[in-house]
Amino acid sequence: MFKDLKLKIRDGGFISTNIPAYTDGVLRTALRRFLALPSLEQQQYSQKELSIAFDGYSYIGQKDSLNQYDKDLLHSFVLSNISREESFPQAFQKYLKQEFLEQLVFIRKLEKEVLKTLGFPESRVFYEEHIKHMVSCNFYPELDVATQKIMPADRLSFHTDVSLFSVFLFGLESGFVHEKPTGEKVVLDTIDEMVLFPGYFMELLTKGKIRALKHGVVLPENRTEERFSFAFFSIPKPDAILELSSFKGSGSEYYQHYLNQF
Ligand SMILES: [Fe+2]
Repeated sequence: MFKDLKLKIRDGGFISTNIPAYTDGVLRTALRRFLALPSLEQQQYSQKELSIAFDGYSYIGQKDSLNQYDKDLLHSFVLSNISREESFPQAFQKYLKQEFLEQLVFIRKLEKEVLKTLGFPESRVFYEEHIKHMVSCNFYPELDVATQKIMPADRLSFHTDVSLFSVFLFGLESGFVHEKPTGEKVVLDTIDEMVLFPGYFMELLTKGKIRALKHGVVLPENRTEERFSFAFFSIPKPDAILELSSFKGSGSEYYQHYLNQF
């Protein structure tokens, strides 16, 4: 399946592939439909309400989101194969039924291939046993709407992800920025192939041999420009029993361990 796969690993761990990006049409429409709902309805799907892993809705200015700061200029909805499909809003059901599971099958194959290329083929067994997926669906509205009250320096502040890998199956829109080991920042243009990079769980699993990539999103020059991004995260399932050298505990305890950094 991946016999012609070419991976290019850049400084800091950002990985480009030669696989053409899938189209995000169905998921983008789903996210737009959810964001058009009255806020009372949206709140029924907040992370607090769903209370499983990172699943659920976060909005601009929210102080208690698990996956974004209140100054970050995006609305996000996290779906996963950890919660039951029926717990997610109607707006996402078509995507969940028609595309999500098939896309996860592909991502699992890709991630195992990347683990092999990076020199960790033995992690395959761990991966099969413990790893599930979530997708963070992110919408950055035009800036004049988003920044009425706050004027942050970035659209999304610098951070590392909770994941083993963060995979951009639909490519990347411009504005993504990542850090090199020297601290130098690299702003990327639009990418039409799949890309991925290691998160904090990869750092733990490899005892620091592979570092989590620090990244964010810069403010666009054109203030009316909207931005979508869809990031698939491989994460340990909440009830996984993890015994890594630097972390021992359940998957849920790992999420908290990761969140304690912020
Ligand atoms: Fe991220």
